Amino acid sequence: MKTKTFTAVLCSIAMWQGTQAQQLLTWDEAYRQADVVIERLSLDQKISMMRGYDKFFLPGVPEAGIPYIFTSDATQGLRLNLNLPDPTMVRQIERSTAFPSPIMLAATFSSELAHRYARSVGEECRASGVEVLLGPGMNIYRNSQCSRNFEYFGEDPFLAARMVEAYVVGMQSTGTLACLKHFLANNTEWYRRRSNSIVDERAIHEIYTPAFVAGIEAGAASVMTAYNRLNGEWCGQSHYVITELLRNEFGFRGMVMSDWRSIYDWRKVVESGQNIDMPGEDYFYLTSDIRSLADCGQITEQQIEEMIRPTIATSIAFGLYDRILSGDKYRPELLDSLPAHAQTSYEVAAEGTVLLRNNGILPLRNTRCNILLTGRWLEELPRGGGAARVEGYDIVTPQAALSRLGNVTVSQKPSDEELRSADVVIITTGTYDTEGVERPFAMPKADERAVRRAVELNPNTIVIVNSGSGIDMTAWSDRCAALIYGWYPGQNGYDAIADIIAGRINPSGKLPMTIERRFADSPACGTMPRGASFYDRVRNEHFITPYDVAYDESVLVGYRWYEYNRIEPLFPFGYGLSYTSFAIDRPQLAAAGDLTDGDTVTVCVRLTNTGNIRGKEVVQLYAGEDRPTVVRPPKELKGIRKVELDPQQSTSVEFTLSKRDLAFWDEETRSWRTNPGDYTIYIGNSSADTACTLKLTVK
Ligand code: BGC
Repeated sequence: MKTKTFTAVLCSIAMWQGTQAQQLLTWDEAYRQADVVIERLSLDQKISMMRGYDKFFLPGVPEAGIPYIFTSDATQGLRLNLNLPDPTMVRQIERSTAFPSPIMLAATFSSELAHRYARSVGEECRASGVEVLLGPGMNIYRNSQCSRNFEYFGEDPFLAARMVEAYVVGMQSTGTLACLKHFLANNTEWYRRRSNSIVDERAIHEIYTPAFVAGIEAGAASVMTAYNRLNGEWCGQSHYVITELLRNEFGFRGMVMSDWRSIYDWRKVVESGQNIDMPGEDYFYLTSDIRSLADCGQITEQQIEEMIRPTIATSIAFGLYDRILSGDKYRPELLDSLPAHAQTSYEVAAEGTVLLRNNGILPLRNTRCNILLTGRWLEELPRGGGAARVEGYDIVTPQAALSRLGNVTVSQKPSDEELRSADVVIITTGTYDTEGVERPFAMPKADERAVRRAVELNPNTIVIVNSGSGIDMTAWSDRCAALIYGWYPGQNGYDAIADIIAGRINPSGKLPMTIERRFADSPACGTMPRGASFYDRVRNEHFITPYDVAYDESVLVGYRWYEYNRIEPLFPFGYGLSYTSFAIDRPQLAAAGDLTDGDTVTVCVRLTNTGNIRGKEVVQLYAGEDRPTVVRPPKELKGIRKVELDPQQSTSVEFTLSKRDLAFWDEETRSWRTNPGDYTIYIGNSSADTACTLKLTVK
């Protein structure tokens, strides 16, 4: 690491040329330099470093040589229309790529694509002077009604962790810092500032934090706390959340910021370990101003200094101040890569589209058949909303992409006769998901009716679902000819969906969550207070009585819940079809089937493409303890390999397991524990299809 000092740079501005924003200084050195900077600040300047500026800037003190740091959301591409109070603060670019939503990225089960996706988004941020990306988001999909699931990586902590680590490395390799959000247990959007997630320590460790830990280990520079309370205290001012868990236990040394307008009591904030109140606007439920608390000794100057140190140290460690002050804020030449970004966007959509049902109708080879195209999305691109909304450019609408399939007639409201007489009906359906609200598991009635009518009238109906979560498809999913889960596929994702339908691409996406048959089957049923309604959004949320969300299912989230309780879901986690077929056999342990401390064991299976076309399969390894001493899921994902094979080709697929991979969080000792005894290793191509098993003994 270089040892260039920020204070020296303030005098003689040296150019920071690379696009690599790996940490330039060690944390100790960066903190040492931060202290030198802080020493020169007045009390008022220190106070101004506690709060964000102008909606999207991390604090700065320009008169003391500390520039403001620009942040932006880029959940599914860089958000451009920020409506900054002072638009002269930055030079924004004119267009940015609208990528597929992160849940679609998770459905690729590909770390390589996660890396490339993040690198592409990071380059667009770097081009437009965004120093810190407000993402990635990684809250676990606990509840299919959560309208923000599309922004995250699904229900499984192992899958989410693999996505996040690749994402963080890809993002930060461009010079744009990542911000892991929303820490912690923000799994509902129903009055998100009023919900109190009641979560036990095991679920916190086994389910809700592994993705954050993976992001920290991958070098993420910042973390955003969540809107909700965790076990009674708001995350943004919780000593347990920020100091005990994030800092002391997970060893995070970067900067922490609040989610937008989510702190309430300054004394708690300074004691919690929080670093920045974002966006730093005054609002009525925030206790009195900091200066008066400091004047009457309720907050000490030392506490203020502790609060602002990580912000300054992180900015120094990653060279942000040098970059801005040396005139290297913008890298417009990185926009030369926009065509490559569009290609990445397409590939993510191609590998993240999940084929859930196919009675043989797909791929559609007959280009002369009469296709009737109808449904919810024809001329409009389905995409997630809120801070995640991205306009994109050169948008490929569903209608434009699907019309290229051949003899296509488009009809918004087809008659029964039109539906009946078409050779094939393609209907798009799904939900519009956006932050700040929940939406029902059931689709809007009119959309549900339209799909049922199509499948009833025409047995050759192909349904394309665009949604950020699972939806209720129980009434018709086994009656359509094919069912394609297309999420929010990004600006050119419908090209990929059309290519899948036409057989130019062989689908390989897998569900990153379970889709339940009925919402009542889900552990999240009952999250909303009794009597609450989805549409009850008119009142200001601060007048809503805080309500508890009891995570009674503890670690049994997603497939862990359905398997433990023997509830058959509509579609299981990890499931997705291909146009070819694969066989997985010959499970083997490379060494003796015993595992002792410090060892790893290698598990191998043979994967064969038994069909007639080239294709990719996601081989999944799960592990379960045979006789657990606490309630444990029957099995948990511990390995993912995505492999491409020619027809009839075979290969050996290897996984490595350590004792820690088999551990659970022991609440008594507050540490990870692996019981000695027998474990079963399951290998297959979905959580419900793991015919290959092995026994493993832990000594
Ligand atoms: C969202 C964050 C987002 C922030 C800034 C908040 O409402 O919860 O995820 O980064 O706004 O747009």
